[in-house]
Amino acid sequence: MARLECLVGKILLMTFHQLTPGILSSLPTDQRESSYDSMAAGYDLLVGNAIYNRLVWGCPKSAYVEAATDFLGQSEGLEPIIDYGCGSLIFTASAYQGHEGRLLLFDRSLGMIERGAKRLPSGRFLQGDALAPPFDDKSFAGGMSWGMTHLFGSRSCYLPAFAALLEPAAPAALCCLVLSGRRIGDGMLRLLHRRGEAAEPETAGDIETAFGGYFDIQATVLRGNMLFLRGKRK
Ligand SMILES: C[S@@+](CC[C@H](N)C(=O)[O-])C[C@H]1O[C@@H](n2cnc3c(N)ncnc32)[C@H](O)[C@@H]1O
Repeated sequence: MARLECLVGKILLMTFHQLTPGILSSLPTDQRESSYDSMAAGYDLLVGNAIYNRLVWGCPKSAYVEAATDFLGQSEGLEPIIDYGCGSLIFTASAYQGHEGRLLLFDRSLGMIERGAKRLPSGRFLQGDALAPPFDDKSFAGGMSWGMTHLFGSRSCYLPAFAALLEPAAPAALCCLVLSGRRIGDGMLRLLHRRGEAAEPETAGDIETAFGGYFDIQATVLRGNMLFLRGKRK
């Protein structure tokens, strides 16, 4: 296994394992499998489907693209920026094109990352655990977290770990699923929780309160069951 020192922006990350030219892993060989590996193709088919998003979550696919595009536009010149749970880039690949040099795309699942690497061939991907990040605090000038907080819950160590990675005043953006009073979306979120695929469902207020503990909130938008937040690291 080739190993190399990976420089992302001004940061010497650590010594990681290089799996392919664009994909590195921070995990030992025997910990590289993930439950998402076998779900990756299905994820892209279902979760990436425009009708599913509109019908079930009440959120158009364009909302994710707009959020990522706006974030990168507003943080122009800042690097490195981390996507903390990038998945297969099913929503974000088009927004990330042209920004590859300042992005680190981080996820636990190689199955998801491999699909992402096909969508963004010049992207730099790192496999790792967002609950035990392989970075020093304040390593990043900005951070994005799309569709992640509802997996772990706002009181888990996911949000504090994400916040700790960012420099003071660094811009951050996230979206996550919340209870919003929509019968179909709320029901699906509760089902995901019962299946062990999401944390106990929370409201937009719960997530805002938790996010506000680490970030000065600049924008809050609720699209169906999907909450979009933007802020600056305190
Ligand atoms: C709902 S998907 C969101 C992916 C992508 N951000 C999107 O919007 O399509 C959740 C992602 O979290 C990743 N994930 C789950 N547990 C993780 C962990 N402990 N550390 C890092 N990534 C994790 C999964 O591999 C998957 O890609």
